Amino acid sequence: MTDIKIKITDRDGVLHEIDAPTDMNMNLMEVVRSYELAPEGTIGICGGMAMCASCQCYVLSDTELPEMSDDEEAMLSEAFNVKDNSRLGCQLHISEDMEGLEVALAPEEL
Ligand code: FES
Repeated sequence: MTDIKIKITDRDGVLHEIDAPTDMNMNLMEVVRSYELAPEGTIGICGGMAMCASCQCYVLSDTELPEMSDDEEAMLSEAFNVKDNSRLGCQLHISEDMEGLEVALAPEEL
């Protein structure tokens, strides 16, 4: 198993090109946290249960991603700042298919 390259634009508009491991059972929200790309307490609030939308991000590349679950869809229908390309980072399990993924973190919900 190898690392994949992902580009993440943080909430200040700064682009980070990072290596994400495919063999550690991580999701995108956890990768953002492990690289400290968003302040503690502003992302992953529900612990990755698709219940808070603090991990919302916009998918900028045309990377093929797994379909949304009903839970993810329901949460995004209630969240703020949702766009057509919104996904919940905690529901995106890092896999080799995501090589080259580019996302931007959605603004923090206040
Ligand atoms: S961490 Fe709460 S919805 Fe993703």
